[in-house]
Amino acid sequence: MKVTEVSHAGGRYPVYVGQGLLAVSSVLQRHLEGRVLLVSDEIVADLYLDRITAGLDENCRWRSLLLPAGETHKTLENWQRVIDTLVEMRAQRDATVLALGGGVIGDLAGFAAASYMRGIRVVQLPTTLLAQVDAAVGGKTGVNHTAGKNLIGAFHQPEAVIADIDTLISLDDRDYRAGLAEVVKYGAIRDERFFSWLESRAEALNARMPDALLEAVHVSVGHKAEVVAADEREAGQRALLNFGHTFGHALETATAYERYRHGEAVAIGMVLAARLSELLGRLRVGTSERLVHLLEHLGLPVALPDDIDRERLLELMRLDKKNRADRIRLILLDEIGSAAIDTCPADDIREVLTRS
Ligand SMILES: NC(=O)c1ccc[n+]([C@@H]2O[C@H](COP(=O)([O-])OP(=O)(O)OC[C@H]3O[C@@H](n4cnc5c(N)ncnc54)[C@H](O)[C@@H]3O)[C@@H](O)[C@H]2O)c1
Repeated sequence: MKVTEVSHAGGRYPVYVGQGLLAVSSVLQRHLEGRVLLVSDEIVADLYLDRITAGLDENCRWRSLLLPAGETHKTLENWQRVIDTLVEMRAQRDATVLALGGGVIGDLAGFAAASYMRGIRVVQLPTTLLAQVDAAVGGKTGVNHTAGKNLIGAFHQPEAVIADIDTLISLDDRDYRAGLAEVVKYGAIRDERFFSWLESRAEALNARMPDALLEAVHVSVGHKAEVVAADEREAGQRALLNFGHTFGHALETATAYERYRHGEAVAIGMVLAARLSELLGRLRVGTSERLVHLLEHLGLPVALPDDIDRERLLELMRLDKKNRADRIRLILLDEIGSAAIDTCPADDIREVLTRS
């Protein structure tokens, strides 16, 4: 088991990464107090609920609430169900919410914990690769509104994060690979050595070998932890984590969030952002091919499909409040392992989009 300490303004918390952690009661037990509400989705609960409950101390007063799986259920209605259950349990300020699942459950249960009695403890038990390397660390919680994703939310740091890599074995292939895109992102923006390691271990990652997973999740968590510790509320450094996301979000919106997993859109977005960085003369020509090669090796999409309207993508990128009409803010690459936030002319983005 590997442990990373995450520092934040109000203190610090551990992120445990290892095998068999859901069943090891001592790790979980040390972070439980008061009444415990375990929130999960129906798919994850079928697979893993027993492992946890078998490990819970007999004296622990706990209850579970299972929600339907998927992004469409990250709603205020389901947040209300978590709150109602806490009320029914007569949970006090010393209660703990256990969030067992992917980013949807982590965000939703985390937001319920952030708001119940102005904040009770939450322990994150992430079960998707995306949640282990990204969503569960950093304290962003929230739910969707019909007017926008994650429109309602709060910063609320967890008590602990327990990432059991054994759970990644049952992940759907596309969900697993989408998570790998975020892993590659850390290498691309902050860590050339890690990027090279990913290149050398791509086969092992494709086979979901435990030793490769352990290292990939642990190093990724370390990067996320460093970034959020330096910049808890997303003013500077944390923005670098949006590498590939400006193009990616536009692509997700243009395809109505139905065609791509978030990580798949980010993979294509990272390639476009790297090509743009080359066009702008800040990244050595040819470097984007190294990124393409790794993403392809990990089974991720790297190209914009022909049927996507390039002008529409540009329009969607312009919609971001922070942009002026002629310049767009995004994360650019200076070399593998180093990125920066900057603005660039919309015409250059058009050129990259039409060439791709
Ligand atoms: N808070 C943050 O900082 C942050 C960062 C990135 C993403 N997010 C949020 O995360 C969400 C996406 O998270 P996600 O990709 O984990 O999606 P998800 O939670 O919807 O999980 C994807 C699917 O996998 C299933 N699943 C989960 N674990 C499984 C397992 N071990 N085996 C088999 N199936 C499993 C789930 O039931 C679900 O159907 C989005 O809502 C996004 O906004 C939050």
